[in-house]
Amino acid sequence: MESVSWQSAHYEEPYSSQRKAKLLAKLAKLGVLKLDRGAHILDTCCGRGDALDLLFKRGFKYIEGVDATPHPDWVTAPFKIHESDVRKIPFADNTFDYVINLHALHHLTDYQGVKKFLIECHRVLKPDGKLFIIDFPASPQIKLLFFLLRKRIFTITGGLKNFANILDEEWSYLSKYLQEWPAIHPLLQHQCPLDLEHSKQEFFLFYYILVKR
Ligand SMILES: C[S@@+](CC[C@H](N)C(=O)[O-])C[C@H]1O[C@@H](n2cnc3c(N)ncnc32)[C@H](O)[C@@H]1O
Repeated sequence: MESVSWQSAHYEEPYSSQRKAKLLAKLAKLGVLKLDRGAHILDTCCGRGDALDLLFKRGFKYIEGVDATPHPDWVTAPFKIHESDVRKIPFADNTFDYVINLHALHHLTDYQGVKKFLIECHRVLKPDGKLFIIDFPASPQIKLLFFLLRKRIFTITGGLKNFANILDEEWSYLSKYLQEWPAIHPLLQHQCPLDLEHSKQEFFLFYYILVKR
């Protein structure tokens, strides 16, 4: 579960709503918006439920979330969000057509955390089911940006200041994730029980689609 100070930084407005506004384009880039409206979809590490809300408003009927940090919005959401660790997903084998994980892989801290998560995704996905992931790679530009932001050198806008505060809150595990990226990267590409279907690395984010054969 994330700390109260992480939650204050992550859900600070207007930055939290600004991040939510960018989510739709990211889901479209992964092809999620083209999926069958009747598919069973699980959003892992779904936070407040922002991606689920966008999917619900676009007609997806069978969507659920799971996150370790409860949020008050869960109570009124028109979909169910479960409080749980995604390294042990509280669902039976072969339950979902699709699983998504957005901006959260680094919260799983290290190689072992990511591996447990991937094994769980493989277990709860139906055959031919897919896992969609977006997060940071430990690229030179990410490491430089995070260094500058944490030194408050590049914090020229409110959004960048807010992001620097989030980085500080996450640094205890984010730093380990960045260090272990050389092991995590091949895990995503060819060492996990899921097969790689698509990967794209942009300046700050990677997009992965993994499939259960
Ligand atoms: C940066 S937020 C991302 C939220 C959402 N996916 C989004 O893109 O807006 C990361 C989320 O991962 C959750 N989280 C971290 N470790 C977790 C774990 N082991 N199991 C379940 N959720 C976890 C946190 O509680 C937090 O809500």
